[in-house]
Amino acid sequence: MGNFSGQVALVTGAASGIGLAISRRLLAEGARLVAYDINRQALEEAFGANASVARLEVMDITCQEAVEASVQKVVEELGCVDILINCAGITGKTNTKTHEVCSQDLHKVFELNFMSSFYTSKAVLPYMLKANYGRILHLASIAGKEGNAGMLAYSASKAAVIGMTKVQGKEYAETGITVNAMAPAVIQTPLVDAMPEAQVKYMTDKIPMKRCGTLDEATDLALYIVSKQNSFTTGFTFDLTGGRATY
Ligand SMILES: NC(=O)c1ccc[n+]([C@@H]2O[C@H](COP(=O)([O-])OP(=O)(O)OC[C@H]3O[C@@H](n4cnc5c(N)ncnc54)[C@H](O)[C@@H]3O)[C@@H](O)[C@H]2O)c1
Repeated sequence: MGNFSGQVALVTGAASGIGLAISRRLLAEGARLVAYDINRQALEEAFGANASVARLEVMDITCQEAVEASVQKVVEELGCVDILINCAGITGKTNTKTHEVCSQDLHKVFELNFMSSFYTSKAVLPYMLKANYGRILHLASIAGKEGNAGMLAYSASKAAVIGMTKVQGKEYAETGITVNAMAPAVIQTPLVDAMPEAQVKYMTDKIPMKRCGTLDEATDLALYIVSKQNSFTTGFTFDLTGGRATY
């Protein structure tokens, strides 16, 4: 028995990094996890042997029809959707100034970082409205607040996620549904572990705490945001930047 006992939680990007850490914790807390990822092998390695996982959904979540069909199946089988956490995301090409940006790359990043979070939330909201309960969490980024030079697609798509969170929070504020986002700076994932020390220092020098956030810190905050206890905060972007963003 845990804090999320019996709750149905959909997590995208569940096979790696922050999505994987959140998914594992939700399982440990008793949730019925529906894990979405495009990477079949990583998803099966992470959860295939775990009998308490409700469903593994291998799919490209930028396909709206596939997302809608999957959510419908989940509700038919599991009865409801209590939680949606959108973790799938890509940076696209970096180190590229606006005059060099390829429009196709910009579209691709928006399609995953912004549109897929719209597709998943549009698909679950009718069921949450029926139940008059739901918790939605979108993964944004400090880049969406500050705008990282050389990362137009990523920064603008995360700013769009923050905008959508504000809109959705207000739209459903008189229901039992809350919609929030989380904006991390650098989190210590295997990707960061593999970077040269100098590059990591360049990133952490901008963080007043002078370090990366940990996966545990990201997971702790995410689980609070999607908990029943988080009942009076909606439309908000929670900070996770070691003091870099104080707004
Ligand atoms: N790691 C950080 O330091 C950091 C900082 C700020 C924001 N974020 C945001 O947090 C989220 C998670 O980041 P992460 O570092 O854990 O990422 P990650 O790269 O470790 O994991 C992303 C997952 O998304 C999956 N994915 C990619 N395209 C997909 C698609 N079309 N359909 C379904 N799944 C797809 C990948 O297979 C992967 O498993 C992202 O939205 C990212 O932008 C991360």
